Amino acid sequence: MKFFVDTADTAEIKSLAASGLLDGVTTNPSLIAKSGRKILDVVAEICDLVPGPVSAEVAATDYDGMIREAKVLRAIASNVAVKLPLIPDGLRACRTLADQGTMVNVTLCFSAAQALLAAKAGASFVSPFVGRLDDIGQDGMGLIADILTIYRNYPALKTEVLVASIRHPIHVVQSAKLGAHVATLPPAVLRQLFAHPLTDKGLAGFLADWAKTGQTIA
Ligand code: G3P
Repeated sequence: MKFFVDTADTAEIKSLAASGLLDGVTTNPSLIAKSGRKILDVVAEICDLVPGPVSAEVAATDYDGMIREAKVLRAIASNVAVKLPLIPDGLRACRTLADQGTMVNVTLCFSAAQALLAAKAGASFVSPFVGRLDDIGQDGMGLIADILTIYRNYPALKTEVLVASIRHPIHVVQSAKLGAHVATLPPAVLRQLFAHPLTDKGLAGFLADWAKTGQTIA
């Protein structure tokens, strides 16, 4: 499973990229706004930090506007994936850009039917938002299972399921058990994946016992 990080905070991305665990980055207009920076600057910096796909979202909602903005975004670097909303014009733009060899991440997916459309439109990634579904009492992980079942029925569909709106490590583990291709994690959730109290306790015990031996490894 590939790990993307869902942030536009370049300091966070730099530190997580050093772990060797990052396969890509996703941003959205809210994350760009939170960064307080210009989208073209921040996406260019992220593309330098991470060689994998970096999603940058259009703000236009009409076909011509999306294509115009997509051309600007994809010119930033070869690893930009243009993020388009799952609306009719978004899928039309997805088909055009996919035919031109541009990576597209179709975002704001909340149903299996929408995910099927994104795949038929040639998306490289579809982003179902599991946390936002859970927030309204619907089954986010059930949606991931349904999309994967459908895609596996049609091997010609090459779209990868990018699990988005992840809230906690259990979402990541469940996504991996289902075989989702990618999870995009908020930095805090990625750090949570390392944590287990028995790891900390065990390490403290080993270090205390080691100190008693008076040895060094050299
Ligand atoms: O970037 C898309 C998605 O991951 C947003 O998550 O936490 O705003 O629901 P969230």
